[in-house]
Amino acid sequence: MAPGNTAAAASPRPLPSTGAVTGVLEALAFFRDGDFARRRFERFGNVYETRLLGQPLVFIRGGPAIQALLTQPEASEGWWPASVKQLLGSRSLANRNGADHRARRRVVGQLFSAAALRRYSPGIVALVNALAAELAAATAAVPLVDRLRRFAFTVIAQVVLGLDGGDRDALFADFEIWTRALFSIPLAIPGSPFARALAARQRLLARLGEVLERARQQAGQGLPLAGGLDLLSGGLDEAGLPLTDDDLVEQLLLLLFAGYETTASSLSCLLAALLQHPRELAWLQEELDALPWPPAPGEAATADDAAAAPRLAAMVQEVMGLNPPVGGFFRRTTRELVLDGVAVPAGKVVQVALAASNRHGPEDADMSLQADDLEQFRPGRHLGEGSGLTLLPFGGGERVCLGKALAELEIRLMAVGLLKQVRLQLAPDQDLSLQLVPSPSPRGGLLVTAPARTA
Ligand code: HEM
Repeated sequence: MAPGNTAAAASPRPLPSTGAVTGVLEALAFFRDGDFARRRFERFGNVYETRLLGQPLVFIRGGPAIQALLTQPEASEGWWPASVKQLLGSRSLANRNGADHRARRRVVGQLFSAAALRRYSPGIVALVNALAAELAAATAAVPLVDRLRRFAFTVIAQVVLGLDGGDRDALFADFEIWTRALFSIPLAIPGSPFARALAARQRLLARLGEVLERARQQAGQGLPLAGGLDLLSGGLDEAGLPLTDDDLVEQLLLLLFAGYETTASSLSCLLAALLQHPRELAWLQEELDALPWPPAPGEAATADDAAAAPRLAAMVQEVMGLNPPVGGFFRRTTRELVLDGVAVPAGKVVQVALAASNRHGPEDADMSLQADDLEQFRPGRHLGEGSGLTLLPFGGGERVCLGKALAELEIRLMAVGLLKQVRLQLAPDQDLSLQLVPSPSPRGGLLVTAPARTA
């Protein structure tokens, strides 16, 4: 057992440190070693401090430490590296705290209500059917990672924001420039990736502003509207005033950032796992055979949920547990906090290490939950009484993922729609190992052939 996990009730222990001074070697190790955090957890315990390129960071893992952080929201605030902070913008809810943050979550959350998801479902079903038709007609192997990325982007840009083809492609091109600099050094030297990203950000905001204005005009004239932007009208800020357009467009940019790569990663990892585990795939397919496709009109948003398709829900949990699309997220402490028996002083940046947590069973678990077993692909563990694991792929507490319901809907509809319509097969000789940055995804692009299913 790692040190320090036994006596949470006793007086808190001081924060263990790796002793890194400049953080240069630690940063190199962080980018090269997928096991960076886990190795140090084994050595220093579930809460320790290190330094990455001059930035002190407290890594935490495990249910007790993570729950203690998330259930005391008044003791911490959101935090992002300077590059992300600048590219998202000061108005973005990701960079706000307290009442400012809650008010914007209420406004943006209207895009993900049950009624909004019912509205989006036919558009998502149509995109799934288009991909199934493309796969069935293909005469050569198709790189599924690329198609799933396109799908996830289109859901946000077209189905949620209502952009049409031309606008969507221009948005995508600028979005790619913007994303490339997200975790770079935030110096806007002319010609640098960061300077190009700042310019792309201005174009993205301008385009999103036009889309918002168009939606407002169409809604005003009673014209039918693509997407859900009319749902934002009337959203108020913390002082009860309508949000300005400058404020709203920064929230829309955040949705592209938060919802695209993450959802594409979960879809790619799910299908890659299924194709590498034929027994589990056959077990799932039995359940899918009993479900209708397409779902009955008006029912797509709930037709394949955990009650109707428990095996699918267990599969998704297993894949997101093993390969969380967001490997970690940050907070900064605003007062001293005791996390799993360790005193973390005020002003510390904390990294919640989800990926490392999920491969580490509860401290009091019996052998069936220990590390070796957690590495196995065993979706059945989530059925019945559940696994007892604290898996938080969508985070938790006041900053829990705003798009969780949409992401889960996309995953369900893609899994059911694709697996019912085509017989996916892995093309031979490809690299199925996962690249981990920015989100897990099969290195070889997940090449598949997919004849249509006949029965
Ligand atoms: C499988 C897909 C997804 C995963 C695994 C995921 C995961 C997460 C995680 C871990 C957080 C951070 C929570 C925290 O800081 O405590 C987050 C935040 C967020 N997510 Fe997602 N997400 C996904 C899809 C989406 C989608 C589709 C959208 C919207 C289109 C979205 C919008 C957001 C927003 C706006 C936040 C910021 C919330 C805040 O700071 O209050 N996410 N997500």
